Amino acid sequence: MTAAGSGSFGNDFEQLWKALAPIGRDDRTGGYRRYSWTPAHQECERWFRDEAGRRDLTVEADGNGNLVAWWRPDPARVTGGVVTGSHLDSVPDGGAYDGPLGVVSAFAALDAIRAGGAAAGAGASAPTRPLGIAVFAEEEGARFGVPCLGSRLLTGALEPDRARGLRDADGVPLTDAMERAGVPVDLGPAPGLLRAPSAFVELHVEQGRALADLGAPVAVARDIWPHGRWRFEFGGRADHAGTTAMADRHDPMLTYAMTALAANKRARLTNARTTFGRVRVEPNATNAVPSLVRAWLDARAADEASLDALVEEIRRQAGDRAQRDGTRLEVHPESWTPRVEFDVRLRDRVAARLGSPPVLSTQAGHDAGILAAAGIPAAMLFVRNPTGVSHAPEEYAEPADCLAGVDALAAVLTDLLAG
Ligand code: GLV
Ligand code: MN
Ligand code: MN
Ligand code: MN
Repeated sequence: MTAAGSGSFGNDFEQLWKALAPIGRDDRTGGYRRYSWTPAHQECERWFRDEAGRRDLTVEADGNGNLVAWWRPDPARVTGGVVTGSHLDSVPDGGAYDGPLGVVSAFAALDAIRAGGAAAGAGASAPTRPLGIAVFAEEEGARFGVPCLGSRLLTGALEPDRARGLRDADGVPLTDAMERAGVPVDLGPAPGLLRAPSAFVELHVEQGRALADLGAPVAVARDIWPHGRWRFEFGGRADHAGTTAMADRHDPMLTYAMTALAANKRARLTNARTTFGRVRVEPNATNAVPSLVRAWLDARAADEASLDALVEEIRRQAGDRAQRDGTRLEVHPESWTPRVEFDVRLRDRVAARLGSPPVLSTQAGHDAGILAAAGIPAAMLFVRNPTGVSHAPEEYAEPADCLAGVDALAAVLTDLLAG
């Protein structure tokens, strides 16, 4: 019997998972829409507070929408705790696991540690450090456009003024959305929330197929590719779809379409990643040439120089095409995340504790990466995803692999809490 699956309430992964699973799920697609500070997301946070309450944890919040539930917050010890956790928001029609798996696993791992389960490290000395379970705000950037918004503000990686200027698709300012949800607002660095932890460990569903191919349930992360978002605005001239001769048009959709093809080709040639996954068109009429196309480029590459060169080349080709089409191009950077190499000593310690699991690079962004970039020793565990699909309803992890993840997390936290 695993530590996580011992069945009594409080340490039953399945019960935790089942309570969270229906929240924000769209029955038609099977995907999740847990956008920050909307009712579905608030319900997820209520679930988090309830589960923390059941365990007598003390929930603290900063002014950026981040939450931490503490076990044994020793008032005399203000630094050096261990923090785990992830996020509860989702992309549009996202999977069930991206984010929530790390939070549910954190509660289950804590239960296992408290129960002194074998997998949590029988014989390990009693914890001498506090343990925090964190939920970071707006990790996906699905509502306000900047991914890992909560952890960026918390660590000072994002200027509060920049965040104050963010609006959702309906024009609602970030701070209004937070206030309407009853969230205390005081944007900016909040070092007290995590209390300068000695380690942060985020467990996350794997977002590719590496573990399925390797036949292993759990991996440790090595690094995160640098990545960013750029808003391309293609301006043209609206006109009649029937009476305007093809040669007389200034059609920004055409410039956008050629740019999307160029970005795809460039990424294939350079072993990078480019995606235009979000587009808004004005006036958005079937029988009118568009006046404006806004398209968001998500670009990622193995190193920062390659990413810079990639985006510059796409911008150049878009500009050339705009000249040919008689359209206008503006490019606005919206977010940027540097390459992150996770703390090597912590990674080696985690890997040693877990018996040398696979070590993987990832192209996906995570709050653990933002904390690592801010100098906090951080590590990640990935749990096998047999479909290899993520940011989509097909994202999956077998129950046995989820429990293996909990056992791994409990073992790692037990080790870190002891010294
Ligand atoms: C977040 O999940 C990202 O990498 O886009
Ligand atoms: Mn994600
Ligand atoms: Mn995630
Ligand atoms: Mn992410």
